[in-house]
Amino acid sequence: MRSHYCGHLNESLIDQEVELSGWVHRRRDHGGVIFIDLRDREGLVQVVFDPDTPETFALAEAVRNEYVLHLKGRVRRRPDGTENANLPTGQVEVLGKTLTILNRSETPPFQLDDGDDEISEELRLRYRYVDLRRPVMLERLKFRSRITRAIREYLDDNGFLDIETPMLTKATPEGARDYLVPSRTHQGSFFALPQSPQIFKQLLMVSGLDRYYQIVRCFRDEDLRADRQPEFTQIDIETSFMDEEQIMTMMEGMIRHLFAQVLEVALPNPFPRMTYAEAIGRYGSDKPDLRNPLVLTDVADLMRDVEFKVFAGAANDAKCRVTALRVPQGGEKLSRKEIDDYTKFVGIYGAKGLAYIKVNDKAAGRDGLQSPIVKNIHDAALAGLIERTGAENGDLIFFGADKAKVVTEALGALRIKIGHDLGLLEGQWRPLWVVDFPMFEFDDKENRWVSLHHPFTAPKEEHLDKLAHDPGNCLSRAYDMVLNGTEVGGGSMRIYRKEVQQEVFHQLGIDQLEAEEKFGFLLDALKYGCPPHGGLAFGLDRLVMLMTGAKSIRDVMAFPKTQSAACLLTGAPSTVNPKQLVELGVRVAKPVKAEGKE
Ligand code: AMO
Ligand code: AMP
Repeated sequence: MRSHYCGHLNESLIDQEVELSGWVHRRRDHGGVIFIDLRDREGLVQVVFDPDTPETFALAEAVRNEYVLHLKGRVRRRPDGTENANLPTGQVEVLGKTLTILNRSETPPFQLDDGDDEISEELRLRYRYVDLRRPVMLERLKFRSRITRAIREYLDDNGFLDIETPMLTKATPEGARDYLVPSRTHQGSFFALPQSPQIFKQLLMVSGLDRYYQIVRCFRDEDLRADRQPEFTQIDIETSFMDEEQIMTMMEGMIRHLFAQVLEVALPNPFPRMTYAEAIGRYGSDKPDLRNPLVLTDVADLMRDVEFKVFAGAANDAKCRVTALRVPQGGEKLSRKEIDDYTKFVGIYGAKGLAYIKVNDKAAGRDGLQSPIVKNIHDAALAGLIERTGAENGDLIFFGADKAKVVTEALGALRIKIGHDLGLLEGQWRPLWVVDFPMFEFDDKENRWVSLHHPFTAPKEEHLDKLAHDPGNCLSRAYDMVLNGTEVGGGSMRIYRKEVQQEVFHQLGIDQLEAEEKFGFLLDALKYGCPPHGGLAFGLDRLVMLMTGAKSIRDVMAFPKTQSAACLLTGAPSTVNPKQLVELGVRVAKPVKAEGKE
């Protein structure tokens, strides 16, 4: 029903007859002439109807926004002075000859010209099919499709096989809650939707498939944020007989290919690397945004014997951290109120205060420093502090002193916030690899070690002896790819020896019985000729979000869920027919209301 897309018409088609199908974006009556902006996936074009063809004209008068039309007409140059330079089709218009109204539309729930922020997100999600007609949303989905295409291209060219893995499966631990599906044929038993295809892709390596990829949906029931969804898409990859160097090289090659193809951006080659320890130390985050020039400087060693108890106490406690964040010219730029607001801000992360020093005149020693705490800090510490942070006159230095985790999170977040608030970000794209992660992190609440990645991550060969005796200092062969402060991908070399896997389970507090029950099939597979292997997974939605500059992951998914993990369009999740529950052998503890949702 079309010879061309509306958005493709241009001067090369002048005097040609065309056939178009699309939606009425806008209709205007201009003294006996009717203008219709007709829109389709590729853009919009102006169609003119004049009263010379009365029947067609009458129809054109009757159309309203979002009616679906089919029409034929002739392309002509717009009259002088009426061109629209902002529109790709703005040099031409179509003189409409025949018109069919294929379908009518009620007045849409919002203006399609409005931006993301002008329409309530609830309305947008409820009427997603209308929302997706907005050019900005269309462009994002088209862009997403170009991204997956460029990725497939690269992976296909490098010998990767696209292989599907089950959706109805057993729990794969990635640190979130599972979505469960009750089994009808095995009442009382449940499938879990995969948090990732981790174990299956490893089994494919045992099978000798060698290079696997899948663009695959993953499900995680966790607290949602702007960059998290309960179902999201991974570009999931696994390889055999390659080490971490080779995998990282190949994978950053893929991201470079993607950026070159889709954005015409040349990313650095190679990507810089940073150890986890440095990331936490200098940036207070395992996913540092390198566009932000602010850094943390640890000063515990300078503060061991100062009078200020908060600093001295933390400085002498191995579990604590004392760190400084220098804000160049912060003394001038930040008001008292802003400093108070930042103090409240770090409180969110558990910080009990936010000490600061304004450097007015560093040549004047302590007299040149303005601060509620300098009177309780001796000269040597002050001098050391100024030197180590590289402070200049006009700077402001913030401090955190507390349990290491609190200081890292609070000052790491403050670093990001001040970087944005003061517009300090430099450069457009700053990818890096974070490497040398610890295998485990101690969970104080559960009083046990938990995996920093997942339990199948291999320890560094030279740290194998630490696995059993010093798990806190055992480093893993994991690597994360970070882009502008977002973790876009992560992976590792995997354990391929049964004894090592068993020891890791042991450290995680999973006893032999539980390991057999949950992962027996994996432990078995390790006995049947498992090659050394490793891989990673990228968060496709996050990549698209970054590359399109969208503010939320929801804006780059066709049909996302809300922050409370519901679908406003379909009303899912919803109660089900009691008969279905009986078949499944499931009883709902909360009484089911007769109609609507619980
Ligand atoms: P990981 O758990 O790090 O690793 O996930 C890989 C990438 O997926 C993205 N991601 C998410 N995106 C949107 N919403 C979410 N809820 C969400 N959770 C994760 C992130 C992340 O970097 N099996 C391992 C990979 C491997 O070891 O090969 C895994 O799933 O961008
Ligand atoms: P106080 O002695 O409690 O009045 O605190 C003096 C200054 O130190 C104030 O600016 C507090 O915000 C700050 N402060 C208090 N506790 C901490 C802490 N744990 N880390 C950093 N600064 C702190």
